[in-house]
Amino acid sequence: MTTIVVHPQQGSLHGSVPVPSDKSIGHRALLFASLCEGTSSIKGFSYGEDNVATANAMRAMGVVIDDVSSSQARTGTAGELRVTGKGLFDLRAPNASIDCGNSGTTMRLLTGILSAQRFASMLIGDASLSRRPMLRVIGPLRSRGARIDGEPHPTKAGDVLPPLRVHALPEGAFLSALEYESPVASAQIKSALLLSGLYAHGPTHLREPMLSRDHTERMMHALGVPLRAVGTVVQLEPANWDGVMSGFEIEIPGDASAAAFIVAAAQIVPGSRVTVRGVGTNPTRTGLYEIVRHMGGGIEMVPHGEQAGEPISEITSWSSALRGIVIGGELVPRAIDEIPIACALAARAHGTTTIRDAEELRVKESDRLATMASVLRAFGVTCEELADGLVIEGTQAPLKPATIDSRGDHRIAMTAAVLALAGKSPSTIMDCDCIATSFPRFVGTLRALGARVDVS
Ligand code: S3P
Repeated sequence: MTTIVVHPQQGSLHGSVPVPSDKSIGHRALLFASLCEGTSSIKGFSYGEDNVATANAMRAMGVVIDDVSSSQARTGTAGELRVTGKGLFDLRAPNASIDCGNSGTTMRLLTGILSAQRFASMLIGDASLSRRPMLRVIGPLRSRGARIDGEPHPTKAGDVLPPLRVHALPEGAFLSALEYESPVASAQIKSALLLSGLYAHGPTHLREPMLSRDHTERMMHALGVPLRAVGTVVQLEPANWDGVMSGFEIEIPGDASAAAFIVAAAQIVPGSRVTVRGVGTNPTRTGLYEIVRHMGGGIEMVPHGEQAGEPISEITSWSSALRGIVIGGELVPRAIDEIPIACALAARAHGTTTIRDAEELRVKESDRLATMASVLRAFGVTCEELADGLVIEGTQAPLKPATIDSRGDHRIAMTAAVLALAGKSPSTIMDCDCIATSFPRFVGTLRALGARVDVS
């Protein structure tokens, strides 16, 4: 199990770095390329473990996914995959359970596809994924005719945990139309239901309380799927559609969620100025950058065109005197994976930061409200845990050196590493293998900017 030791940052952080390609878009590119007819090319593949889990799942169902990158690209973060799609109706039954690893997106999106197949399948995950609630996806899928079972949730009556058994849809039976208002803003729910909607006899009409990331809608639109998205409403009307999506080429933009750690590190280490190149800046993903701005942070986003219907920017972040703010409402789904690193900014801000409306964080890779409260306290930061958020008292004093257990949560491990840069003496972060799920070269990237990080 990897442990990292982060030393207090002596000088400033400087430089220009790339980040791995967007994990969310990577999952979707792999799924849609598999369901297309013909060959697709996916450039900039990140080799993060979550995306690799999706690639392996599709391979297990007969999709040929070749890695055609140069060996140099393969050891980096930008591989190239060639995917020979099977069309919507030619996936084959996997020989064994499909292992989704740590990836909730893999499991939930696949459930949407598998629920429409004529074969049965079983989805499993690691210890963290096996604790994550699945009724949010299975419930609406069941209501359109899917048969999916899981393990009963030990504390939430009626909810379901992995492993998930997805039954074969009998010959002659089809998924039906669905009209669904989701109680949570969740791209995983929305995407699973839209993917199942590709197979359904009848439309899929969805509404969410606030807009979650819309990569699925953008990709479906680019592939000619008859879909309309207006605000928080999405409608898929397949009646006059031939069900054919054709192979495509995509270059995946850099991951805004990975870039957030680098942007935040530059904010909190005095004198720093760091640029992150080629970052996907879809507005459904830029909540953290707005948070930095509201806190008074120095940040500039220079647009660099589009890739795959997704806007790209170069982001420059420089250290600033931050002030505490209130974070809540529609900003939360647009910063859903960045709330931990926003807590690190809050810890270094002048005054109090209050985070509300973030109860969804309790069902991520760890209970991120509870985990962040204990991480902040370990660094000597005063905070109060609320049912749906945190109240954090910022401090400018050097932080207490801490020993942190990441609890297998990549974003907690990386947040703790960034906080440790502001420590009085070195901090130790245990259980850091999980960082490879989303940002395999995180430590190398911090070092390239001038940080001192030991790995053992
Ligand atoms: C994701 C959606 C979000 C996010 C996750 C990736 C996606 O989850 O937290 O890391 O790729 O669709 P929810 O849909 O559960 O909010």
